[in-house]
Amino acid sequence: MVKALQVAIDGPASAGKSTVAKRVAHDFGYIYCDTGAMYRAITWKAMQSGVALDDDAALEALLAKTTIAFRAGEPEQRVYVDDVEVTQAIRQPDVTNNVSTVAAQATVREALTKRQREIAAAGGIVMDGRDIGSSVLPNAEVKIFLVASVEERAERRFKDNAEKGIHTPIDVLKEEIAVRDKKDSTRKISPLTQATDAIKVDTTSLSIDEVVARIDEIIKKA
Ligand code: DC
Repeated sequence: MVKALQVAIDGPASAGKSTVAKRVAHDFGYIYCDTGAMYRAITWKAMQSGVALDDDAALEALLAKTTIAFRAGEPEQRVYVDDVEVTQAIRQPDVTNNVSTVAAQATVREALTKRQREIAAAGGIVMDGRDIGSSVLPNAEVKIFLVASVEERAERRFKDNAEKGIHTPIDVLKEEIAVRDKKDSTRKISPLTQATDAIKVDTTSLSIDEVVARIDEIIKKA
C-alpha cells in the first residue's frame, strides 16, 4: 500500500502555494488544507465581532468558540466559520490587509497550530502555509518552499483579483505583497522561513504544470 504522507508547502504570499497544493493533493488523493484560510477566517470573525486584531487574549477567547471548517466544493473548496460560508469574504482586501496582525499573535498561532496538527495526524495531506515545514509538521516527509519574485507574484494576484472583480493597481499590490512578506518574515513567533530540510522551488519562470510535476516527482521518491 502507498504510504499516506504529510506534504508541507510553505512560501510567501502569492507564490502559487494554494493552486499547486490543490493540484498535488488531487494527484495523490490527499486532503488539502489551506492554513492561511484559517488565519483569514479568524481575522474575518474578529472584524465582524469588533475584537481588536492585536488583542491576543480576546482573539483566543473568540477562537475557542469558533468552528472553522473546509468542505469540498467546485471549483474550489469552501470555507465556513460557524456554518457561515466565508470563502469569498476572507479573500477581500480588508481581510488580506489585516491578517498579518492576527497571525502574529502567539496564542492564536498556538491554537491554530494545534488544530492543524489534528487535521494532519493521519497523513495523506498537503498542507500549505508559512510555518508548516518549520513548525506545524516538523516531521513531514516532504517539505517544499515555493518562491517567486515580487513582480511575478503581484502580476498573479492582479489576474486572480480581476477574475473576482477586484481592481487594485499592480503597484499597490506589489507594495502590499512586500509589506506582508516583511511582516510574515520578521514576526517573533514562527516567522516565514525555509525549513532546513525543505526543497526550494522557484516558480517565477515555471508554469503551474511544471511546478506540480516537479513536486509530484519529489513525493513519489519520498
Ligand atoms: O496564504 P495566505 O495569503 O492566505 O495567508 C494569509 C496570512 O496568514 C498571511 O499574512 C500569513 C499568515 N499565515 C501564517 O502566518 N501561517 C500560516 N501557516 C499560514 C498563513
